[in-house]
Amino acid sequence: MTRHLITSAIPYINGIKHLGNLVGSQLPADLFARYQRARGAEVMFLCSTDEHGTPAELAAAKAGKPVAEYCAEMHAVQAEIAKGFRLSFDHFGRSSSLQNHALTQHLAGRLADAGLIREVEEEQVYSIDDGRFLPDRYIEGTCPNCGYDKARGDQCENCTKQLDPTDLLEARSAISGSTKLEVRKTKHLYLRQSAMRQQLEEWIDSKTDWPVLTTSIAKKWLSDGDGLQDRGITRDLDWGIPVKKGTEDWPGMEGKVFYVWFDAPIEYIACAGEWAEANGLDDAAWQRWWRTDAGADDVRYTQFMGKDNVPFHTLSFPATMLGSGEDWKMVDYIKSFNYLNYDGGQFSTSQGRGVFMDQALSILPADYWRWWLLSHAPENSDAEFTWENFQASVNKDLADVLGNFVSRVTKFCRSKFGTDIPAAGQMGPAEQALIDELQTRLTAYQSHMDAIEIRKAAQELRAIWVAGNEYLQAAAPWTVFKTDPDQAAAQIRLALNLIPFYAVLSAPFIPDAAAELMTAMRCDDWGWPDDVASALTRLPAGHAFDVPEVTFRKITDDERAEWQEKFAGLRS
Ligand code: 2FM
Ligand code: ZN
Repeated sequence: MTRHLITSAIPYINGIKHLGNLVGSQLPADLFARYQRARGAEVMFLCSTDEHGTPAELAAAKAGKPVAEYCAEMHAVQAEIAKGFRLSFDHFGRSSSLQNHALTQHLAGRLADAGLIREVEEEQVYSIDDGRFLPDRYIEGTCPNCGYDKARGDQCENCTKQLDPTDLLEARSAISGSTKLEVRKTKHLYLRQSAMRQQLEEWIDSKTDWPVLTTSIAKKWLSDGDGLQDRGITRDLDWGIPVKKGTEDWPGMEGKVFYVWFDAPIEYIACAGEWAEANGLDDAAWQRWWRTDAGADDVRYTQFMGKDNVPFHTLSFPATMLGSGEDWKMVDYIKSFNYLNYDGGQFSTSQGRGVFMDQALSILPADYWRWWLLSHAPENSDAEFTWENFQASVNKDLADVLGNFVSRVTKFCRSKFGTDIPAAGQMGPAEQALIDELQTRLTAYQSHMDAIEIRKAAQELRAIWVAGNEYLQAAAPWTVFKTDPDQAAAQIRLALNLIPFYAVLSAPFIPDAAAELMTAMRCDDWGWPDDVASALTRLPAGHAFDVPEVTFRKITDDERAEWQEKFAGLRS
């Protein structure tokens, strides 16, 4: 049996994510996981919250809570919303877990033993009033480039210029506002990525099937002088994974923690350990997914992420894995995404611009969003969410094409034959032509899903729904019934059988509607329809069904206008 390890980039803990975040990793990863399960593969689908670093500390401070408490609460909130969107993680872990502490410290120890870590003394801004070093994001001031007075130590959000804290004019602490800042010496650990250039280059060169977006970003950073510079992997912060060499103290590193981008990807592995613990399993259970010396050689590992995450997954995380000298399962395929924009601008967490996951679910069920987001996934370029497009796509694809088909077929059958699948009549050339078309389209759908070409897969799925509608329109059983009820019965038997066929194929995109359709058809055979002709006999003559309630309703112009206005402002 094929085994698929699937990870989604782990969302930062600070706040609820917007639809742009969702479509950039978790949702497409879920689509792929559901599809692979439906095809009979064994799947381990993992995601977690990314809980360390300054954003977590700052958000906790803003909420007036201890950071550990804030993270625990927000993890529960994000887990609940993920459930609402039907994200089918095998485990939704936390990068602050004990497993991640132990594994991060272990890997740092291995890297040190391999001579891949060096200590660097550097100068950093220290706040006398706060009694601590201030990482970039904790320093605010006026941007020397555009004059924006809330520029951060790493970047000006207004003009996007990258900055060093010492560039800021009138620099102050973002914690206390104090301007009593000075530059002090501090020691940090650096990962010697530069020493691994050749190994990383060879590894990336061996990935000839990666999407252009992933490879182009990886190669740009690899060839750019800056890309493979040695990177600081420790920070002067309280919250995070304490710097240790395995289980031993690291002299000179007391009170420091690992940098969030060092421990976050390691959580992909630790999450499997959390999964094992939560399910009462032993280490061998998760290691067979992650250790090639413990059974993971035949696993195919796919990662999903937004394009800004690519450098970390093609350079620094692989440097950690390869540098450890241990037998970790390396990623086979990295599916990355461009950005989704919102109604003429950008989605922005910090500014509260756009539609956030909880807000989306408060106005419409998950499937409406899943369908729009996936069928418009920003694969080859940035994409844009507009309310007009959302309304048009939901109304046409889900309500007019799929929903209407189901409703027409089931209601017509009920009115003429009752709610058992009618037995009479034979299939003719029109039915055979439909089966042939569906078989061709099914093959195309599968190959797009296998290749994680999401937009193409969505288009093909829609074409599969359309084919049923066109057949029904041309066959016109309501007219045929008047002269040849047996033939109308055969037509409607085939059409009714299309409903579970559609449900199984559509479930990765719209799992709730798919389940409702299966329930209505009183069918629990979720087997993947390899052969269309036999799949379309799944509901035998005499099988009872129910006419489903409206599967998808239309979005009215008034609703569209109301939501457009409601979500035009900024969320505080
Ligand atoms: O960009 C982000 O949202 C990061 N929290 C992603 C981390 S992915 C990984 F490395 F774990
Ligand atoms: Zn600026």
